[in-house]
This record gives sequence, C-alpha cells and structure tokens, in this order.
Amino acid sequence: MKAEIVAMKPEEPDEAVIKRAGRILKEGGLVAFPTETVYGLGGNALDACSSRKIYAAKGRPSDNPLIVHIADLADLPALVRRIPAGAAKLADTFWPGPLTMILEKSDLVPKETTGGLDSVAVRFPDHPIAQRLIKAAGGYVAAPSANTSGRPSPTTAGHVAEDLGDTIDMILDGGPVQIGLESTIVDFTEEIPSVLRPGYISLAMLRDVLGEVRMDPGLLREDSAIHPKAPGMKYRHYAPRAALSIVEGEEKAVVETICRLAAKAEKEGKQVGIIAAEETARNYKTGIVKTIGKRAEEETIARHLYQVLRDFDAEDVQVIYSEAFHTPEMGQAIMNRLLKAAGHTVIEA
Ligand code: TXA
Ligand code: MG
Repeated sequence: MKAEIVAMKPEEPDEAVIKRAGRILKEGGLVAFPTETVYGLGGNALDACSSRKIYAAKGRPSDNPLIVHIADLADLPALVRRIPAGAAKLADTFWPGPLTMILEKSDLVPKETTGGLDSVAVRFPDHPIAQRLIKAAGGYVAAPSANTSGRPSPTTAGHVAEDLGDTIDMILDGGPVQIGLESTIVDFTEEIPSVLRPGYISLAMLRDVLGEVRMDPGLLREDSAIHPKAPGMKYRHYAPRAALSIVEGEEKAVVETICRLAAKAEKEGKQVGIIAAEETARNYKTGIVKTIGKRAEEETIARHLYQVLRDFDAEDVQVIYSEAFHTPEMGQAIMNRLLKAAGHTVIEA
C-alpha cells in the first residue's frame, strides 16, 4: 500500500477529502494529519483493532498508550469517569491547544487504546484540519506522533511519508507545523496534578491556573531510580546515528569548547556536525554547521529541532556537538527532547 498524500491549506481544508479521510478512519484505516504540535497518526480511538494497527504501523510497544483527540469539549465526559475541577480549568484556559490531560477512563475507551491502563490521555488540538478530521471520523481519534518508533516526531508531511508512507492509507499535508514539540502532558489521576511531559504550555503557565503543580520526579534525572510515569517517556525515544553531546555553559565558553572539540575530532578523522543558534553559528569554522533557530525567537528553535536531527541522520557525520538551549519559555521542553536524544551526554564548557 502506498499512502495517498493530499495537500491543503489549513485555513481552507478540502471538505471532500476530509470526508473521505473520516470514512477511512470509521472503517478502521489509518490517516496521518497535522496538528499544531507535530503530525499525528490517526485511528478510531474507540476501536481496539484500529489501535492495534497503530502500534503495528509505528513498531511501537503496545504498553505505550495513545492520546485520544477530540474536537468538541462536549465529547470529553463520555471518555472519563470524572472531570476534576483543575482539569476543567485547564480545558477552559488551554483547549483547543497543545495540552494533553490524563484522566480516569470510562468503559467507552478500549484498553488497547490506553496500553492496558485505567486512565486515558485526552487532547483537543488547535488545528483546523485536525478538528475537521476528528469530527468527520465521529469525534474520537487516537493519535500518537506519526513517526516510526525510535525516530524524531514528524513536523512535516514529508517526514511522515519517509517513515510510514508504505504502511498507512492517507496523509493530509497541511504544511510544516507551528510548535514542533509534542504537547504538554498533565496527569490528574493523583491528588496533586503533575507534568509528565514538558511542552509549549510551561510549568509556570500551569501554576498560574492551578496553583500547585509538580514535575514528575521521573523526568528530573536520568540516573534516578524513579521511572517517568508516562510510559513513552521511559524509552530512549530517539538516538541520532552520530554520537550527540550537549555543551553547557556561558556563550563564549560554549563556542570555544565546541570549536576545540570539533577540531580534535576532525584530526582523528571523524566527520563533525554542530547544532548552533543563529546568533552564534558563524563562529564555527569546522564541520557541518546547522542553524536551529534564533535564541531571540525561541519558538524557532523548538520548531526546527526534529528537522535538524533528521537532517543529521541523512549526513555522514560520526559526532555531533550541540549548544544548549535553556530559553525562557520553552527551554524546559526543548532541553527535555535534546537531552533524551543525547542520552544525557553533557559537557560543561
Ligand atoms: O502533541 C502531541 O501530543 C502529539 C500530537 C499528534 O497530538 N501526540 C503525541 O503522542 O505526542 P505520542 O503517542 O507520541 O505520545 C503520547 C505520550 C506517551 O509518552 C505516552 O506514554 C503518554 O503520552 N501517555 C498516553 N496515555 C497515558 C496515560 N494514560 N498515562 C500516562 N501517560 C500516557
Ligand atoms: Mg511520540
């Protein structure tokens, strides 16, 4: 099977195509679609067979639960046992948007969709194509990121086609995504809400609305004996083919250290890659230098991270040095993904 790829402008979704895509989902097929975070691989969330198909297409372990996407707040109560007051507040503030909430699931949701758990992850994405598709499919679309398990999440339809073009039915191409990192996940199954995966909606934004919010202790340290609560966060999500190290420190020292390490690696006969911000990129004279975005516009760094990692996988480099990107709003999310890609290899400049 070769996926049909249909391009459309997010602001002018092609209703006939969306209707057809919705029918494919209703009949148990798989359709990839854009959201504001990353592309999702959609299947009917209420159908155990569709969820099994999603795991198979991605090569994903079936204990790693899927997110159920809705396009109308009125469709939430049927999925869950109860809606805690805090969850209602977050829905009110951030939905539609890059936020996923973990709630106790109702019997409507098959265990295949939740990886065997009694809780369900729910998100109402802020993207017109996603919203139309979810409605056309009957209201409930299970969608993990539309990448092969172990590759960076897709931020363009081309990435989806690279990974899944031969195994799914259709790809809706709405152009490059806006945010580029997966949604923030907040768990409401315990007394105090906690962040299981950082994203565009930061801890500070959540605390503004909820008061007390914890960071999942399993996220804070790699060496800790505590495992992350989101099953997907415990996997070494993605590792580039080249050995990736992150260089931390004050700007000037970082540039000097990367230059020195790059020169040394080249002397040893290795091809070197460097990930740099636009502000510092021209300081590097050796290796393949890729500019990720501007520190002064941190959302550009988040948007291009997965693209840069995919690009390096296509290059013949053995080692990659990356600057660290502790930017004010999205730094936590960017560094969470970058540290995972680097297997937490950090060099202090
Ligand atoms: O931005 C996003 O969230 C994208 C777009 C497509 O919406 N989706 C996405 O899905 O990133 P996925 O499957 O790649 O990541 C879902 C994460 C995994 O880490 C999974 O373990 C966690 O959510 N998760 C899902 N259900 C859960 C549950 N009931 N309890 C704890 N963690 C859960
Ligand atoms: Mg994923």
